[in-house]
Amino acid sequence: MGIKIIEENKQFHLFNSKISYVLKVNSENEIEQLYFGNYINVEQVIENGQTMGIRPLCCNLKEDENFTKELALLEYPSFGSGDFKYPAYEILQENGSRISNLKYVSNSIYKGKKDIPGLPASYVNADSEADTLEIVCEDKAVGLEVTLYYTIWEDYPVVCRHARLKNIGNQKIEIERALSCNIDFPDNEYNWMHFEGAWGRERYPVERDVSTGITAIESMRGHSSANYNPFVIIKRKNTDEKNGEAFGVNLVYSGNFIAQCQADPYGKLRFSMGINPQWFKWELNANDIFDTPEVVISHTACGLNDLSNTIHRFMNNQMVRSTYKNKPRPILLNNWEATEMDFTEESILKIAKKGKEAGVELFVLDDGWFGKRNNDYAGLGDWFVNTNKLPEGIKGLSEKINDMGLKFGIWIEPEMVNEDSDLYRAHPDWILGDPNQPNTLGRHQMVLDYSKKEVVDNIFQQLYAIIVNANISYIKWDMNRSITECYSIGKEASQQGKIYHKYILGVYDLYERLRTAFPDILFESCASGGARFDAGMLYYAPQAWCSDDTDAVERIKIQYGTSYGYPISMVGSHVSASPNQQTGRNTDIRTRANVAYYGTFGYELDLNELSEEEFSEVKRQIEFMKEYREVFQYGRYYRLRSPFENNTAAWMVVSEDKNTAIVSVFKKYKTPNMGLERIKLQGLDAAKQYLVNDKRKAYGDYLMEYGVASMDSDELWFESDEDFSSKLYVLKAHVTK
Ligand code: GLA
Repeated sequence: MGIKIIEENKQFHLFNSKISYVLKVNSENEIEQLYFGNYINVEQVIENGQTMGIRPLCCNLKEDENFTKELALLEYPSFGSGDFKYPAYEILQENGSRISNLKYVSNSIYKGKKDIPGLPASYVNADSEADTLEIVCEDKAVGLEVTLYYTIWEDYPVVCRHARLKNIGNQKIEIERALSCNIDFPDNEYNWMHFEGAWGRERYPVERDVSTGITAIESMRGHSSANYNPFVIIKRKNTDEKNGEAFGVNLVYSGNFIAQCQADPYGKLRFSMGINPQWFKWELNANDIFDTPEVVISHTACGLNDLSNTIHRFMNNQMVRSTYKNKPRPILLNNWEATEMDFTEESILKIAKKGKEAGVELFVLDDGWFGKRNNDYAGLGDWFVNTNKLPEGIKGLSEKINDMGLKFGIWIEPEMVNEDSDLYRAHPDWILGDPNQPNTLGRHQMVLDYSKKEVVDNIFQQLYAIIVNANISYIKWDMNRSITECYSIGKEASQQGKIYHKYILGVYDLYERLRTAFPDILFESCASGGARFDAGMLYYAPQAWCSDDTDAVERIKIQYGTSYGYPISMVGSHVSASPNQQTGRNTDIRTRANVAYYGTFGYELDLNELSEEEFSEVKRQIEFMKEYREVFQYGRYYRLRSPFENNTAAWMVVSEDKNTAIVSVFKKYKTPNMGLERIKLQGLDAAKQYLVNDKRKAYGDYLMEYGVASMDSDELWFESDEDFSSKLYVLKAHVTK
């Protein structure tokens, strides 16, 4: 790994054993991209990124008639000098001009990586893990300095980027657009994948050809959203799970975003991603700086499973900050689907006790324990205990749960307020909203104005008082509505364009304060399920509730889609009751667990209501998960068969030493007189012999090349005549000499 500068043509080459990212300062003193992909020789001088001669209607600067921005590959393009595509940044000057030209000024290279103040970002555990290049550019006429940050990693085919804008002049400038990255690809023979959905069906993969026009996804909801996830893949058209080139881009941000591909008629492709410029305006006075969020750009030449594995490892090692980092996650029992808000201390203790008997490690008290929270019309904002339900408070309950030998956790939704709350009555101007317009409700609640420090301070103090007095090991931080009237009451007009972003900065600030005050608490983020499931959240909360849809069959799709861009250790997944609350579907308790194992694992039901047989199955599942959770949560994960295309779906995990693998196969509908189906495994050691389910032996190469087959003698997969069945295969390397 390193960053090599070839002075001859002012070329920067970021490289590690797998990838190269090459850029240069061109004759116009602008930053051009030369190459991004598989590793290439560090010493080679790449003459020019612009390989095409200038064409009619292209515009050029007077000094160089052969150079036009329209045909060049640009690193951080601006508006107004002949590029004609969407720029990476736009600034409005006092005279009304948006025209800007960035010229190279200087660069520096150092070991390690700096934090981005106030924002989540990947980090190094030791400076030797990464090298960073900073390139400083200036537009003297505007008084704007832009620093481009590039970090290359020793252990991953990953480049991280972000930009810092600084006002170095005397005039006020307004940033109207400041994206995190721009990548100009020299050809457009790519498809892209994004991950879309809605409540209850988050992160379904969608693939599109991007060879012409504009393809974009975005959020304008104030959070990253269930509609479009801030993770995309740019892939060669024939790249599949096992072969081919692809780039994955994770935006490390939880607010409004945009990801866009723009293919021009010359066959080039521009990819850009960052904060959504819609309704964004950031005033920058003299010496002010603005940092964009970071993007993590991963590369593979070996298919999408490899790309996902890189992202999983990267996120686990360089994004998660927690005492639970790379540690097995506690098996939890959550009371939400069992009781909703209708509980007493007694009923909670009864549920927790059964959980302890089953072997769970952590009990989580969900919504309904605070203020006048008996339904969702009241209580949010009042973070003091409802003593009608819990006479001895959270403290008393936590002690009783601890005495059972369980850890204890609580649910909070700190960004929201109900009209019926003491907080709203005392501070009606603490919500986001325009006093001259009706205020839209979502789940009967309003959004607190986290752009105001006093609001964040108040919520911090309330929560601090609860947490400091009880033994709380886990917090589920929920967020159950989008921002609609994004207006901060009492702030000047010039500040209103900042509110979406400042809101998220306020959320990050509260997370950071709570994390610092209580470093051992395990946070799980949540937003009506998975509506704020992103790398930004992961920096504060190592787990995220994947979806409110706990139906196992639906979860196969949701978790399959999620696995493209996020580690399995992040995926909050529970076994819930059957029939399922969201779909009414009945599934076997084994199938429910076979899906939930691939995540943090827990239960979301009243175990007292299970039959004896089901309860002993739960005990067995918990024992099994305790034995294998490191493999599930941190092993290499492979998607084998897509639930979106087939009646059967399959995935697997393999331990780092390749001695243990667990394969799950799911079948949606029963099929009479089923034909032979083979599923080829991946990631095994070809030379090792594996014992499959303690029964038959097979070599890794055979299992990967021939696969496991549905007609394998004693392991007929779907002999059961039920729909929605599943099979789990545990493979253990049979140690030979
Ligand atoms: C959201 C969450 C659920 C649950 C409820 C409580 O919908 O996603 O898991 O916590 O809120 O109100």
